[in-house]
Amino acid sequence: MPCSSTRNPFTAEESPAVGVTFEGVNKSFGDHVVLKDITLQIEPGEIFVLMGPSGSGKSVLLKHIVGLEAPSSGRVTVGSQDAADPETREDVRMALVFQAGALFNSLTVYDNLALYLREHRLGNEGKIREKVMHSLQILSLENAAGKFPSELSGGMRKRVAIARALVMEPQLLLYDEPTSELDPVMSATISEIIASLKDQYRVTSVVVSHDRDLALNIADRVGILMGGELLTIASPEALKNPQDPRVMDFLNPKIDLHNPRFKKLET
Ligand SMILES: Nc1ncnc2c1ncn2[C@@H]1O[C@H](COP(=O)(O)OP(=O)(O)OP(=O)(O)O)[C@@H](O)[C@H]1O
Ligand SMILES: [Mg+2]
Repeated sequence: MPCSSTRNPFTAEESPAVGVTFEGVNKSFGDHVVLKDITLQIEPGEIFVLMGPSGSGKSVLLKHIVGLEAPSSGRVTVGSQDAADPETREDVRMALVFQAGALFNSLTVYDNLALYLREHRLGNEGKIREKVMHSLQILSLENAAGKFPSELSGGMRKRVAIARALVMEPQLLLYDEPTSELDPVMSATISEIIASLKDQYRVTSVVVSHDRDLALNIADRVGILMGGELLTIASPEALKNPQDPRVMDFLNPKIDLHNPRFKKLET
């Protein structure tokens, strides 16, 4: 379990976690309805895991929180502010760890992390170095500082993406598939990191994931999104015996070649 022994140079104590609220949110792209009447309250400081099949609208929902998408109708608020208002991103420090990492390939790991601090003039190079190295240390990445993203494994890239989010001292951390394409041990490590960040930084975490183990082990609550509808919000304990057969089939799929899920290829 990665941990830090150095003094924490961040000031998260001064920036309490914020909650997120969806009120009757609908989202369509042309005729394609992607989110249907989403009402949801994510509490400050909780780990909320959003699960659902591919294409069910999970990433689109996350993008509404950071203001990268705006609702077709309804409202998303972060803290007390409208998420679609660009000023909200100025007032609330939120970081999205993208599905594919979204690192800058031409920059070293160190510079990927320092970029945000330099662009926002958040300290001199000495202070920036302290923050960057602290974030790298939390993710056990001190030795990767001088490497380029192309030189890293998938698991390291995921951790760099999380470290880069951390230098922003976020009040709200959003993760899109943080454990996809990772082996089970690295997935467990990333899950532990997400859980420990909640305690260290009192951050609100929204995690989109297909990873059942992650959801059952670290979530305070889990939401299941299917076809753009939020079918259920439940504790990990309650999800071990879901009442809704669609949720049961999603969480405990049986491999059956005669199942209608499987479409025979035309010859
Ligand atoms: N900018 C966009 N324009 C048009 N359609 C979009 C746009 N963004 C997403 N969609 C559509 O919205 C639907 C939901 O996409 P989304 O990326 O949220 O799925 P997801 O649940 O995150 O899937 P996955 O698990 O595969 O990442 C998809 O059908 C997708 O094609
Ligand atoms: Mg997605």
